[in-house]
Amino acid sequence: MSDQPMHDGGLVAFGIDSTRPSVARVYDYALGGKDNYEADRELYRQIMKIAPETPVWARENRRWLNTAITWLAEEAGVRRFIDAGSGLPTVENTHQIAQKADVDASVIYIDNDPSVVAHGRALLLDNDRTQFTAADLTKPEQVLADPAVAELLAAGEPVALVMALMLHHIADYEQTREIAGKYADALPPGSYLAITHACNPGDGGAVDVLVTELVEKVKDAFPTLAFRSVEQISSLFGELEILEPGVVPLGEWHVPGGRVEDERPADIRDAIYGAVARKA
Ligand SMILES: C[S@@+](CC[C@H](N)C(=O)[O-])C[C@H]1O[C@@H](n2cnc3c(N)ncnc32)[C@H](O)[C@@H]1O
Repeated sequence: MSDQPMHDGGLVAFGIDSTRPSVARVYDYALGGKDNYEADRELYRQIMKIAPETPVWARENRRWLNTAITWLAEEAGVRRFIDAGSGLPTVENTHQIAQKADVDASVIYIDNDPSVVAHGRALLLDNDRTQFTAADLTKPEQVLADPAVAELLAAGEPVALVMALMLHHIADYEQTREIAGKYADALPPGSYLAITHACNPGDGGAVDVLVTELVEKVKDAFPTLAFRSVEQISSLFGELEILEPGVVPLGEWHVPGGRVEDERPADIRDAIYGAVARKA
């Protein structure tokens, strides 16, 4: 464990604290990864008592990412990607998916978790079309001024900005909307915004009860976690055109003109929704 600040081109992250759970590492454990500590695993065990579908949510989120990036690269012709809140490297990462369509596809990963920064850098060392920026995404002005991000956007070509399971880590809804709006405004015409987000229908039903208990359980570790309604998640896309099938549970999501790919258990309580939108 290190408590030394890690300097990163003017952006500063702090050292890895293995004694407290990190969102990135708990999620890594849910996906069967090895980049986690006992504090992460213990919180995961607590989460599993309330939400045994957690690993299904995590896997469906990665399946969504794979399907969406593949469609964006192969069908929509996008060659520039920003994976914001990228998490720890896992089996298939955004650049590996996008570069199947075009080896020259470029990806900027952004995250502020020191574990992610360290592992992300190590993964990307051998790929000259990818970059890692250590930054706090709640500060869009700083992120957009980052030289790599600014250069990518300045080229004026369509960019796919992916914010998967990230925006629900900002507690205040209006702030979240404002932040998403600033990133969307900075995208060139023809760009895409792809979001997955924790959802609470707020109807007093089974999912409402489940996620309310979940938020209470993790509040010490993740005090800013916010499940939101479908309307609120839809509104994060602002003026962008949300493509079919709209903001839906990830198990029901498919590419525009496509269909749902996987069979899934019928009793899954859906709490993760996602969509892809296009900027005119
Ligand atoms: C649950 S993981 C999701 C990882 C990946 N996007 C995926 O969907 O598979 C959420 C990630 O968002 C990152 N994150 C949360 N808030 C952030 C912030 N304000 N700035 C940068 N990264 C953030 C966390 O560090 C973590 O790696």
